[in-house]
Amino acid sequence: MCGIVGYIGYREAYPIILKGLQRLEYRGYDSAGIALYDGNNIKLSKTKGKVADLKSRLEKEISTDGSLGIGHTRWATHGVPNDVNSHPHYSNSGDLVIIHNGIIENYDSIKKELIKRGYTFKSDTDTEVLVNLIEEVKKKDDIKLGKAVQIALNEVVGAYAIAVFDRNKPDEIIVAKLGSPLAIGIGDNEFFIASDASPFIEYTNNAIYLEDEEMAIIRRNKDVKVRSIKSDALIEPYIQELKLNLEEIEKGGFDHFMLKEIFEQPRAIRDTFRGRLLTDEAIVKMSGVEDNMKKFLNADRIIVVACGTSWHAGLVSEYIFEDLARIPVEVEYASEFRYRNPVITEKDVVIAISQSGETADTLAAIKLAKSKGAFVFGVCNVVGSSIARETDAGAYTHAGPEIGVASTKAFTTQITVLTLMALRLARAKGTISSSDFRRYLIELELIPEKVKKALESDAYVKTIADIYKNAKNFLYLGRGFNFPVALEGALKLKEISYIHAEGYPAAEMKHGPIALIDEQMPVAVIATKKGHYEKVVSNIQEIKSRKGKIIGIVTEGDKTVKDLADHVIEVPETEEFLTPLLTTIPLQLLSYHIAVMLDKNVDQPRNLAKSVTVE
Ligand code: F6R
Repeated sequence: MCGIVGYIGYREAYPIILKGLQRLEYRGYDSAGIALYDGNNIKLSKTKGKVADLKSRLEKEISTDGSLGIGHTRWATHGVPNDVNSHPHYSNSGDLVIIHNGIIENYDSIKKELIKRGYTFKSDTDTEVLVNLIEEVKKKDDIKLGKAVQIALNEVVGAYAIAVFDRNKPDEIIVAKLGSPLAIGIGDNEFFIASDASPFIEYTNNAIYLEDEEMAIIRRNKDVKVRSIKSDALIEPYIQELKLNLEEIEKGGFDHFMLKEIFEQPRAIRDTFRGRLLTDEAIVKMSGVEDNMKKFLNADRIIVVACGTSWHAGLVSEYIFEDLARIPVEVEYASEFRYRNPVITEKDVVIAISQSGETADTLAAIKLAKSKGAFVFGVCNVVGSSIARETDAGAYTHAGPEIGVASTKAFTTQITVLTLMALRLARAKGTISSSDFRRYLIELELIPEKVKKALESDAYVKTIADIYKNAKNFLYLGRGFNFPVALEGALKLKEISYIHAEGYPAAEMKHGPIALIDEQMPVAVIATKKGHYEKVVSNIQEIKSRKGKIIGIVTEGDKTVKDLADHVIEVPETEEFLTPLLTTIPLQLLSYHIAVMLDKNVDQPRNLAKSVTVE
């Protein structure tokens, strides 16, 4: 939800900020803007559209010199995407310039108050209200910018990561954070500001991640002073050494990040179980689980909270935890859970799943569960993210940066972590035998190779995509472990191709959706050998007799479905509980190819953003 970038140092700020915005465009891409300050003039250009649109406009509109600058790529919350609502925003005097990621919830009452005091507003944004509130505080009390920012932020309710500078202070940028991420890159006599570290990774690998309710005063050729927004206390910042490298955040020869990330899955899954899956010793080692084993073993139940694709991974884990470890599991949409006064006790273990680690609803669900005394375990991809920090313990997925907005490798690596946890707990509880345990570990270790094999269907899946690309609706069916995969297949298709798609448990079809089936309706059915195979075959017969077009996802060598279906895509055989890691691959490819054929923006689908930091 919006990306922010800033620079202060000795280099030209513009190229750094522009490249940074391109890297952060996954966070929002309905408008963009940059403000540069050369010590004499503030030069600001902004536009509705993407960073590429900004570049062509800005280079005609303003001179690009200046070694201080801030930039923003927007995902609209208050105010439609248009030029005026784009960031940065000036204060009324024209002295202060701000960029903001987040939402100021009480902006309306503050705006009314400021209007009474003579302020005027050009945009419909909460951000323009905030910059004017800062200005009013600064003017009224005749105080420094840092103090004014602090006082103003104590008056607002909501979430923010902001960067603001003052025409009268050419060597200073103030940043602050609550709820939205903010990293400060520390170079030699230069500082970078960004929503994540990708904009400055080639300049420095030292960064400070501000905590909630912290602000920093960044001074050229000097230092970064971190303070508590609430108490004013000076805070000794922790400088982290970053592990990210440039290759990981570039396309590496693929046409789209999404395709690159689909093909990275063998590596990502292997990285996720590396050091945790010790087949020779027949051990699963996960320190977050080990250190809290009692909590897991004494739990009355596991509650999974997540959103979107991560919620689907949670749903797969419900089947796996219950089947292997015999622990009751409830899977909750974080957005519903947090607002419905759920019954939570100290004997509940809550697992929060999030690729970005910044999803506002998931974060709020964690805070609620913690306040009721539950133990909260995080499964996150982004190291040091808000959710990773907020949870009591956790396990990272090692997918690497996921930049395509449609989640792919995050999903399969989340399932990998959750499977490892279920196996570890099953062993500790004695709900599976040691021979089954050993067999499952060996099979899990083979999954990356089998994913590689599943990826070989790419060219064939593309031919299927070509046949059905103009379909108006799609149905996805699966049972058991593969029911959530059907949901995920449908989500992938709708979010990047804008074709309406629904996922259903295969047997539920006859309770309603079967009415939709005719010769125009493609139905992707997951029918792997072990998962209630005969039952799914009956469901396929039901579709066939209503002339639906069947795309079967089957186990290698399958004959029965081949005879019935219009197309079959094979995946290697594996243990039933591991099949989602394979069946999901052709469905990712199918949605990818359809979206490309329809000329859609695969990596940045309309209306979406990679991390949803607003509720
Ligand atoms: C779909 C997708 C979203 C996310 C959801 C949760 O492809 O990416 O549905 O899964 O917004 O995001 P995280 O996992 O970052 O909490």
